[in-house]
Amino acid sequence: MTIIEQIHQLKKEKNAVILAHYYVRPEVQEIADYIGDSFYLSRVAVGLKEQTIVFCGVSFMGESAKILNPEKTVLMPDMKADCAMAHMADKETIQKMRDIYEDLAVVCYINSTADLKQYSDVCVTSANALKIVRALPQKNIFFIPDKNLAHFVAEQVPEKHFVFNEGYCPIHEKMEKEEILKEKKAHPKAEVLVHPECTKSVRRLADYIGSTAGIISYAVKSECKEFIVCTETGVQYELKRQNPDKQFYFTETEPICGDMKQITLEKILHVLETGENEVHVPKQLRENSKKALEKMLELAQ
Ligand code: 13P
Ligand code: SF4
Repeated sequence: MTIIEQIHQLKKEKNAVILAHYYVRPEVQEIADYIGDSFYLSRVAVGLKEQTIVFCGVSFMGESAKILNPEKTVLMPDMKADCAMAHMADKETIQKMRDIYEDLAVVCYINSTADLKQYSDVCVTSANALKIVRALPQKNIFFIPDKNLAHFVAEQVPEKHFVFNEGYCPIHEKMEKEEILKEKKAHPKAEVLVHPECTKSVRRLADYIGSTAGIISYAVKSECKEFIVCTETGVQYELKRQNPDKQFYFTETEPICGDMKQITLEKILHVLETGENEVHVPKQLRENSKKALEKMLELAQ
């Protein structure tokens, strides 16, 4: 039996389902039951009939799936696959902001630890941050951890007062305007599709800014045949699958998330065989952090 056949067989035997983010390796996306951006995956994780969820992504994703589904078994193919940005905020600063601003909402990007979520009012993803911030009654917004997504939202919601945090995604932050300009020169007809985790100087070059799912659906609908894609290269798999006749270009310094790439077929097979790498979130932390995630699901409706 091939490794793929073994995974499919074990999935049936163990009543398991595989979820994968667009940034994981193509061969992993190929065997997944559900592939998507962070928002889609958090919605899908709620209401699955299977007892075991194998989450092909980084730790905050598996943690969120467990918080939303405490009765399910959530397995991570690699427990060390983590998102650096998820740790780039702290509860002391949140408390400080709460002391300063009476009318404050702490808005927490889903790319964050459960610990940060428990001190926040609502979670957001890059697909729904704008909609959710607009819907909040509070005037003051402390947006953690991502400064780039925060600025992207703040630019479009001038009626709110934003307090920014210094977190960022190391992969998107590193993308340089000069490299994109070089691609534009080489492909003058191409549209530029940008993830909001990129810096302002990159966002300024965009024809479209959105989550990974947003970028994919924009490319499907656009009349254009060529695109310069400013996000992690994993999206190329789904972009190509849905648009076989279109061309996608990435910057010379390829934006690759080493943590997402830790997920391999061998590791998926291993956790299905052994049940190792189960996600555990202590009850109190789970109940506290669940509120911000559920508020996101409610406001994003
Ligand atoms: P989205 O899935 O919301 O596009 O975010 C990208 C990301 O960095 C996930 O880690
Ligand atoms: Fe985190 Fe950036 Fe990797 Fe996404 S791409 S998981 S934000 S480090």
